[in-house]
Amino acid sequence: MRKPLVLVGLVVIALVVAACTSADDAAPTTTQPTTTTSSTTTATTTVPATTTTPVAQARPGAADLGDSLYAGIGNGGYDVAHYDLNLVIEPDSDSIAGIVTIEATATQALSRFNLDLIGFEVERVTVDGDQAEFTRDDAELVITPNRDLASGSVFTTEIKYSGTHEPFRPEAFNGTETIGWTDGSDGTEYVISEPDASRSWFPVNDHPSDKATFTFSLTVPNDVIAIANGTNTSVVTDIGSDTWQWSMDEPMAPYLATVIVGDYEILTDDTGPVPIRNAFPAGYRVPSDVDLTNDIMDMFIELIGPYPFDEYGIAVVRGFGFALENQSLSVFGPELVFADVIVHELAHQWFGNAVTPADWGDIWLNEGFATYAEFLWTERQFGRDFIETQFRDIRNAINGNANFSPPGSPPANALFNGGVYIRGAMVLHALRLEVGDDAFFETLQTYYQRHRNGTVRTADFIAVAEEVSGGQLDDLFDAWLYEDDIPEFPSG
Ligand code: TRP
Ligand code: ZN
Repeated sequence: MRKPLVLVGLVVIALVVAACTSADDAAPTTTQPTTTTSSTTTATTTVPATTTTPVAQARPGAADLGDSLYAGIGNGGYDVAHYDLNLVIEPDSDSIAGIVTIEATATQALSRFNLDLIGFEVERVTVDGDQAEFTRDDAELVITPNRDLASGSVFTTEIKYSGTHEPFRPEAFNGTETIGWTDGSDGTEYVISEPDASRSWFPVNDHPSDKATFTFSLTVPNDVIAIANGTNTSVVTDIGSDTWQWSMDEPMAPYLATVIVGDYEILTDDTGPVPIRNAFPAGYRVPSDVDLTNDIMDMFIELIGPYPFDEYGIAVVRGFGFALENQSLSVFGPELVFADVIVHELAHQWFGNAVTPADWGDIWLNEGFATYAEFLWTERQFGRDFIETQFRDIRNAINGNANFSPPGSPPANALFNGGVYIRGAMVLHALRLEVGDDAFFETLQTYYQRHRNGTVRTADFIAVAEEVSGGQLDDLFDAWLYEDDIPEFPSG
């Protein structure tokens, strides 16, 4: 499929060149375009007779993907298929020396394109093996290949870079939290990127709308191990260092890429529906709730659909005070390893990771769903009435509290505010009461099945809900997603 696309592109270019030549011949003194009806004709007639026609209408890719909340993240003009991260990591000096290889398809004819990268020194960039010019412009790495890239062509960019990793303060936390590549409290190094800190440790199209597969080749001193998303495909021992290879074969949003380097033990459990490999730092006393993982997995497989990846695990990091759902390998602070959080991060593997918002303004599609999953687990233990009471009590307690934004319109400087979590869960509960249990769970299943490995907007979820229930649900979603006031729950 790829080769023919390139050939078609070349054929079109040849025709345009031929057309220009004959236009020149026919009207050598005309420089004004005549009124035309097709873009092809416009292209041939607007060119002044005296200039050389560019072979393709190559132009720079956009420096921004137009996210509704964050300017500057992501880039246009191409679509990444695969990242290979080859990193030599020196924990003692906090340095990284990397070669990142990116396979992408041009979605327009490109004269130039951007990646996102903050910090480090870029030493060399090649495109399809040829050295390319590059400049740094704030958080943008601007790359000019030595020849234009045809729309539809597949091209490989290799970036050699090195330096010290620096903490990153995203606007999403109002600049108050540092994320990115971080030093744990026991010498461990780990990475937390959501929402936009991937660009603080590798050159990337840093937007959730461009998912890609990943491979990692991580060289670390041999008194530590290196863990990343996906499957461990090899460990090669050298003098003083080991190289750990990991492979994530399902598409992954860049914010879910992670690396952990430290003195870790990996504990496996193959007795459940999905192979489990948990990573614990030396000396960590594993809380007993970890043993619930297989039961929680069973619940989601039954209610939502098959687990999306080849394996799952949690990695505990000392010095981290939260939990984050990195794809197939959630990262937990040592104090957060208990049932509700285990449920929450596992639910994200379906909602957030396999089905990913195409815009940060739709973050409730992650956090509202993962929070609702906690209620589903509670319902299994304590019954439906119990969560009905919880939802009504919480609604009454937080209604009118400005710290809980309407879930469908979070502020850019408080992306992960309580509203996207608990009010996001309430959106789903209101839907369940409105359409009934059968239509509700069928909606979740259809939404997952249809959009697994892809990206979505809020409208995609509403479309599935309306299709499954056969009713018009705009009023319900508008009120629960966007109004300041939290509606009363439907009586069910
Ligand atoms: N997605 C995380 C959750 O499961 C929350 C989160 C987003 C986070 N970005 C973070 C936590 C950065 C710690 C650091 O709720
Ligand atoms: Zn979450």
